[in-house]
Amino acid sequence: MSKAIQIAVVGSGYVGLVAAVCFAEMGHDVICVDNDERKVAALQGGDTLIHESYLPELLERYRNTKVRFMTDLAEATRSCEAIFIAVGTPQSETGDADLSYVEAVACEIARSLTTYKVIVEKSTVPVYTNEWIRRAIERNGVARELFDVVSNPEFLREGTAVADFLHPDRIVVGANNDRAAAVLSDIYAPLTGGSYYQRADAIAGPCSAVEPPQLLLTSTKSAEIIKHASNAFLALKISFINAVSNLCEAADANVEQVAKGMGLDSRIGPKFLRPGIGYGGSCFPKDVAAFRSVAEQLGIDFNLLTEVEKINAQQKKRFLSKVRSALWTLRGKRIGVLGLAFKGETDDIRESPAIELVQMLMAEGCSIVAYDPAAMKRTAEVLPESPQLRYALDSYAAADDADALVILTDWAEFAALDLDRLNKTLRYPIMIDGRNLFDPQIMAERGFTYISTGRPATYPVRDPLAAEA
Ligand code: UGA
Repeated sequence: MSKAIQIAVVGSGYVGLVAAVCFAEMGHDVICVDNDERKVAALQGGDTLIHESYLPELLERYRNTKVRFMTDLAEATRSCEAIFIAVGTPQSETGDADLSYVEAVACEIARSLTTYKVIVEKSTVPVYTNEWIRRAIERNGVARELFDVVSNPEFLREGTAVADFLHPDRIVVGANNDRAAAVLSDIYAPLTGGSYYQRADAIAGPCSAVEPPQLLLTSTKSAEIIKHASNAFLALKISFINAVSNLCEAADANVEQVAKGMGLDSRIGPKFLRPGIGYGGSCFPKDVAAFRSVAEQLGIDFNLLTEVEKINAQQKKRFLSKVRSALWTLRGKRIGVLGLAFKGETDDIRESPAIELVQMLMAEGCSIVAYDPAAMKRTAEVLPESPQLRYALDSYAAADDADALVILTDWAEFAALDLDRLNKTLRYPIMIDGRNLFDPQIMAERGFTYISTGRPATYPVRDPLAAEA
């Protein structure tokens, strides 16, 4: 039986909140600290704050018992053995990660340190941050033997965050001594030892007692680089397939067949080879820029990352020109938009390529009726309703009388839409699909002009455009 450890998690964003409830689910006692009083009160009172599978159930189970929410970091520091820093590291104007929140938390922790603690950097940070945290704490008068700083990057994805946390591909622990590494090993023991997966009420996922996740012990710097390099590599994979999809369009080939053929090579693998309108979200754009900036500061030429960003930006413009060439002119056209979140199954719109495209379409003079299953409220905060932009109650209402329907987010519910009903609802049955949710052949059979990404366009029989194509 693993022992329960007293853990503080600082920050109640995606990573902090999910880590806090998952540590409780693993049997530990957790204090989740945030300096935003309103957020803390909301969490104490039963709000979940973010749209995430299993989060409501786990919060219900552990709220105010095994997970307590508070604003008092000093108290949390005094009563916990390990303190995880999971605060934001937003992008600064130069592309660097802004580490001022991390620094502020480190200094505040330092002021309450009287017995040995392990301070764990969980936010995504550039290499050397671990050392800076150590120096900041020492500068605040804390003796070196009273603490260690460990790097434990998090690899969860939004939408599947809880399952990703409890069923990780790997757990990376960057520690420069055995004492600190041992604390982290104890914390993750329910996962690495497999006992968690034997529980009848364990959250389901790929790990099991027979195949538990591996804990990879590295130096602190390597752990920091593993996180940035992993995100940058995934972004590169997406930009690569987007470039290939453009090539497929030019050669009249099918990117899905190409991606399948590539992905069957076990050295390449099938994941993250879905072309689209470019990657977005709170991580990839920021982390690619930060990694590029780290390389620059270390005197390393990593222009590859600049190309990754360039392809990502072009992908949105390319989609806009597809809409334009499908509709001839854009001014005054009414476009139904499905999807606003940066990807399906989340309400997060940070750096969403869908939002950027809505803005680009509006700048071209289109009027938009948009629908998203979860992200409309957040979108309306940045793009309020206007004569040019309305939010619809469902997908069919967004399509109603529209000159074309565009798909910008890969929500599963969009792929299950009734195509005959959509066809009748639209003014013209034209769909431009940025996420390849439909089979082009079926779309043609159902009477659509269907333009997708990296696959030949298909047209309904007797469509005048088909004769030209
Ligand atoms: C990403 C990583 O996948 C996580 O491992 C990491 O922990 C996280 O960032 C982070 O650093 O916090 P997330 O941002 O939640 O997770 O989203 P992803 O599922 O990775 O998707 C990112 C973007 O890439 C989305 O816009 C998505 O639509 C796009 N994407 C993804 C593609 O265009 N094609 C693909 O094949 C996969």
